[in-house]
Amino acid sequence: MKQFHAFRLDPINHRLWRGDERVTLTPKAFDVLRFLVQHADRLVTQEEILEAVWPETHVNPEVVKKYVLEVRKALGDRSDRPTFIETFPKRGYQFVAPVLEASSDTPSSLPARAATMVGRDAPRALLEACLEQARRGHRQVIFVTGEAGVGKTTLVEAFQRRAAERASLRIAGGQCVEGFGGKEPYYPILEALGHLLRETERNRAVAALVRCAPTWLVQFPSLVKRETREALHRETIGTTRERMVREICEALEAITAADPLVLALEDLHWVDLSTLDVISALARRRGPAKLVVLCTYRPGDVVVAENPLKVLKEDLLVHRLCTELALEHLGDSDVADYLLAEFPRADFPPGLAGLIHRHSGGNALFMTAIVRDMVDHDVIVEERGRWALSRPLSAVAPAVPATLQQMLEAQFILLSAAEQRILSHASVAGDRFSVWVLTTEPDLTPDEIENACERLAERQQFLRAAGFQELANGTVSAHYEFRHALYREAVYRRLSDVSRSRLHCLVGERLEVLCRPGQQELAAEIALHFENGRHYDRAIGYLILAAENAAVRFAYRDSIQVLQHALALVPRVAVERQTELRIQLLDRIGDAHYWLGAMVESARAYEAEAERAAAGGLTSARVHALSSLIRPFALIDPDRGIAAIEEAVALSAGLGDPLLHARAQLLAAGSRLLFDTWRQDDWDICESARRTLQGLSPAGVTEYHRTIYAHLQMLQGHYAEALANLEAGIPKRNEPTNLMVHIFALSGKTVALLHSGQLGELMRIVRSGREMAEKNGNPWIFVFREAWLRTVVLDFDGARRLCDTIADTATAYLPRQPQTIARLAAGYAELERGHHDDASRYFEQILDPAITPKFFLHWFWRLHALLGLANVWLAAGSLGRARSDADRFLASALSTAEPNVHALGWDAQARVAMAEKDWQGADRDIERGLAVLERFDVPTVAWRLHATRSELYRRSRNGDAAEVHRARAERVILSLANSFEPDEPLRRSFLAAGPVRRLLKPRGAGGGVRERR
Ligand SMILES: Nc1ncnc2c1ncn2[C@@H]1O[C@H](COP(=O)(O)OP(=O)(O)O)[C@@H](O)[C@H]1O
Ligand SMILES: [Mg+2]
Repeated sequence: MKQFHAFRLDPINHRLWRGDERVTLTPKAFDVLRFLVQHADRLVTQEEILEAVWPETHVNPEVVKKYVLEVRKALGDRSDRPTFIETFPKRGYQFVAPVLEASSDTPSSLPARAATMVGRDAPRALLEACLEQARRGHRQVIFVTGEAGVGKTTLVEAFQRRAAERASLRIAGGQCVEGFGGKEPYYPILEALGHLLRETERNRAVAALVRCAPTWLVQFPSLVKRETREALHRETIGTTRERMVREICEALEAITAADPLVLALEDLHWVDLSTLDVISALARRRGPAKLVVLCTYRPGDVVVAENPLKVLKEDLLVHRLCTELALEHLGDSDVADYLLAEFPRADFPPGLAGLIHRHSGGNALFMTAIVRDMVDHDVIVEERGRWALSRPLSAVAPAVPATLQQMLEAQFILLSAAEQRILSHASVAGDRFSVWVLTTEPDLTPDEIENACERLAERQQFLRAAGFQELANGTVSAHYEFRHALYREAVYRRLSDVSRSRLHCLVGERLEVLCRPGQQELAAEIALHFENGRHYDRAIGYLILAAENAAVRFAYRDSIQVLQHALALVPRVAVERQTELRIQLLDRIGDAHYWLGAMVESARAYEAEAERAAAGGLTSARVHALSSLIRPFALIDPDRGIAAIEEAVALSAGLGDPLLHARAQLLAAGSRLLFDTWRQDDWDICESARRTLQGLSPAGVTEYHRTIYAHLQMLQGHYAEALANLEAGIPKRNEPTNLMVHIFALSGKTVALLHSGQLGELMRIVRSGREMAEKNGNPWIFVFREAWLRTVVLDFDGARRLCDTIADTATAYLPRQPQTIARLAAGYAELERGHHDDASRYFEQILDPAITPKFFLHWFWRLHALLGLANVWLAAGSLGRARSDADRFLASALSTAEPNVHALGWDAQARVAMAEKDWQGADRDIERGLAVLERFDVPTVAWRLHATRSELYRRSRNGDAAEVHRARAERVILSLANSFEPDEPLRRSFLAAGPVRRLLKPRGAGGGVRERR
């Protein structure tokens, strides 16, 4: 801790103190000051400062000047007669005040300013009691309510100040902003988190985020290295709101493990729904947490009965999960105390406090404004060191305005024309604003504007200084804020409609400069300005960006809400732009619903988009909308999806846009192959469409189309090529647009791994995928991949158990595939137990389209059901039925290009022929099956064919040949088993399964007996 004059600089906690009051400095200004103080004995050059404070970044040397100016202001230093920092023109700066070492007993974190606070004894005691509870690990949620200016913020800050004085405690705050509700999900939480991350103990906060809250960590890109960021993005793909909420709760709990945390969330009457989710979860979670959540809001602004904030607070109250602290107006004696505190030596007439109280109605803000006004108007004057009234009390009363608004208006009128203009402009910019944003004021230089703000702040009129800050374009600008939201409102209300919209447009246009791709945090704010400025077209553009921001926070619901708001603005846009905008918005609404998993709503949005496009005669847009429909319909009604995409093909044929047409063709033929049945013609269409696309443009085949194509390659046994295509579809960055491509590609990859026998790698993806999906609350896709794997390694009961867990949790359109796998597994399990009727019933259910409607690759599963039936009748000795089902199976299998079912088709034929004692036929069939194995590497079925071949040779007493095929079967089985991790339970159960075990060479001396069929 360094001390100079009245100041103390705490380099560890990044704090500057004047006495026991904290002085606000931006982090960079603090660094500049620290550097100067550390080298107080000498002159430091501008280059040295740049080097020390901005390592590895190039900054304009002018920036140093700005920050030195900020430091000087904070210290009250003057450049002409410096006490602290002396400038040596063209050379540098020197810290000239004597610097001492001071003890460091100052609390770590406090609100920046302290005001006189009177009264409030009961509320303070209550907050103290809550803090005591929190220290013991009982989390506290407190709603501090009351009208504007009653003193909520003052109470909260005073509480934080006192709490921090007494013991180690961390403080973080976030503020809701008017007009952002629903547009900036988690706004105050992110702000509070930003505070924690900027603090000294940021390491603990970062560690907590790394450990508990990767979905929040990705919201602060500067905290993580690039490689880590990519890994994080991959890990957080598909994140849900529930996961975001859970993770922030866990992180906050981790942060409070040692010391309590006071989290102040201000002005919740403007809160967004996502933040309410967090508050709700924080209040309801049961574990210990040394956490105090202080929420302030004005009940007058949330009057609607079903206002979600009100609903939440009332529900929490009923369950005794929160405390409400309704702040009362100040009393007569409080006003007297206030006068006493502000004017310690005064000779006021006894009625003064009563008069102020009457006029202000006990509103603290109004009270302070009246007093200030009296000083400004020399009603209260200082004479020979004592304060007094300059006129009799009876003459004072009539001069006091009846409302705060009137008082502020009277003050406003007395300002200079330039000050009025600047304040009006600022009132449009917001409660807190940068001077830079006002610099479009005509005839005023930036310096004039800054000086005017500074003067107002010095006179404590309307504004106060809020430090310097670097804007997104690298400019460092002074910031100011209105002394209270009501001050801003008072100025704003004076503006005519016309000047209001004009100024909103000016501010919007100014902020636009700061909003670039990848840096679009301001989008919601800009949209608000353009909306208020009646530039609806531009407002919609920025709302779209704001919706993207929400999606990056995995807040798809909020994203949809923003887009819907934009949609409502469309009728105010020029008629000729309306259709195009509507189409664009509906498309994004469809996408957002799709990511959210709301397929019906997604399809509805795309359908509306297609209708609008049709009505507007915009055929390419219509083709696009119709093509999008296949995605949600794939899960609810594939036939409707196919019909839509076929319409897209027909429409795109006459458009003269070969790229669009080829994409539609690939998608249509691909959808028919994946959702209807395999046809060679369709594959030819896909193949030629893909070639056309590749020829047209390098980006012609998108990741999405490539992933579809890869699935089709797999259906023909080309696993390596498919894997290469799928890898390309697994994105490295977190783009919400890629979410489904990602899942689609990843699930495709698991299929390729399964068919090519890389079961261990498959299991690894399934496990991490399930872990990720469980965090996100949608575990289905990886669960049924594992279930499929289990049927392949003959763990039928395990497969069924897994599928049942999904059937319980999934929504209506999801369970078709897991249900089918469950039935298949159940059929085989019953078959093993010799329950032939039960087994056949399960397989029949899969074949019955009334019970099992179409789904992704349903035909593949129906083929397996046919094989199951053939196996049942074979085991039951019903040779006629076995023959007929085996024939049906083979014919269907051969109508596809899938090598696994080709091989199994011939294998089933051979086994039925064997049962029929048609040895020649059996020989011929199994050879045809083995011929498939020569062309395709299909290990998961290959061992079965070798087993059948071995068995046939054994029956024809060709022992050597039988052994050759048994050994081949064994080799394949062992390589499948050994592709698992050594300790994988599935490895053991696979090797122990009856049909497998009897193919393995007995080990050890005593194990000579081999079980025979
Ligand atoms: N208890 C109090 N004693 C003295 N002044 C107060 C008190 N409460 C509030 N004030 C004054 O009133 C102003 C407005 O209070 P604030 O806490 O910002 O109100 P709110 O947050 O309820 O809108 C403060 O700036 C402060 O000067
Ligand atoms: Mg407040």
